[in-house]
Amino acid sequence: MRFDPSGPLRGRVTVPADKSISHRAAIIAAMASEPVRVRNYLDAADTNSTLAAVQKLGAIVERRDGELVIRGCGLRNAMPPGEPIDVGNAGTLMRLLPGWLAFQQGASFELDGDESIRRRPVDRIAEPLSLMGARIEAREGRFPPFTVHGAALTGITYELPVASAQVKSCVLLAGLCTDSTTVIEPVPSRDHTERMLAAAGAPVVHEPGAGGVLRTTVGNTDELEPRDIDVPGDPSSAAFLIAAGVLVRDSRLVLERVGINWTRAGFLRILERMGAIVLADLEPPGTFQAHEPIADIDVRNAPIEATTVDVEEVPLAIDELPLVALLGCFAEGNTVVRGAGELRVKESDRIATVVEGLRGLGAEIEALPDGFVVSGTGRLRGGRLDAHGDHRLALLGAVAGLASDEGVEVVGMEAADVSYPRFAQDVAELIA
Ligand code: S3P
Repeated sequence: MRFDPSGPLRGRVTVPADKSISHRAAIIAAMASEPVRVRNYLDAADTNSTLAAVQKLGAIVERRDGELVIRGCGLRNAMPPGEPIDVGNAGTLMRLLPGWLAFQQGASFELDGDESIRRRPVDRIAEPLSLMGARIEAREGRFPPFTVHGAALTGITYELPVASAQVKSCVLLAGLCTDSTTVIEPVPSRDHTERMLAAAGAPVVHEPGAGGVLRTTVGNTDELEPRDIDVPGDPSSAAFLIAAGVLVRDSRLVLERVGINWTRAGFLRILERMGAIVLADLEPPGTFQAHEPIADIDVRNAPIEATTVDVEEVPLAIDELPLVALLGCFAEGNTVVRGAGELRVKESDRIATVVEGLRGLGAEIEALPDGFVVSGTGRLRGGRLDAHGDHRLALLGAVAGLASDEGVEVVGMEAADVSYPRFAQDVAELIA
């Protein structure tokens, strides 16, 4: 796909539904005993893998008037499907679902996925689940395919060795069948699981501590009773249009009904520091409530300055850091991201692929072991970018093309991925 230098982007647009919240909605609804209506569930390969997975475990998924109705199995009644559960390319599904499966006593579940997922580590969830009493067998001890053998679990207090909302969520889901399980996060990460569990009546205690440390505790739950779930627009999808609006001359666009949970708003705060004009009524940092706030985001093109991303900001902007690199190309000064080694275990090694990709378009960018440094030149030539099968890389190339001198051809992304044809369609509407 080619993305040519663009005229001003102007108008209002809604963004695709939140992927993280969609995965959680399907899993938590499947754990409930009463039917749950989910509005605006994301229709994408990853979140469809989650629907297929919960159906395999015995949940019933009906589509009605554009909504989903999910009839769950109940907390303790997931049915072993007798064949592997295919997580496809979805890391969030692969890391969250075992939290539920781990307390299905006496039952075993095998999980497998595509070639890229087979390179992504699961020891980070196997370790806490084993401490709780489940048995996990993984290829080479740390990769899919892997099997979860369910057991009666014991509560733990677990300090996350990596800032990962996926690992936190897995342990909290497993903690629902223990007396008490606490996850300690040295640096906060997205909290959608705990919000949704609180909304479903689970006992969730959220305690901010000194130095930004966060303790979240869950306890024994007989039944989850989620209210109907409304999935907000995805701030991580909005980020691509926001970056395009900031970078493309004379743009002014409004993104409607975007999730603005503060644990996802790191990118907006980084942009604010860069001097970008992005207006939104953001949720105050540190807030914890049993729902997901939404707001419209108003973006205008303006010159930007370089910035340094703090280590504490990394989990709050983890999926948007490639865009920070792109913005850095257009900013005055050196933009630095450190403490983001986790980028190396995403759908691609996003430090290597971002540096290689942007350099190929004319950027002055250097990789660090845990991040990158970009010297802003105020422009980007353009060329060809290999997405290495990673949808966020493909979208990075798309935004780069719109803001570049010569356009960008994105290669290495399967036509099956819906995210960037949709992006191209949104952009076409905003130009028209
Ligand atoms: C996600 C958490 C992040 C993020 C991923 C989705 C989630 O991963 O990169 O796209 O929904 O919990 P980690 O928790 O592994 O950092």
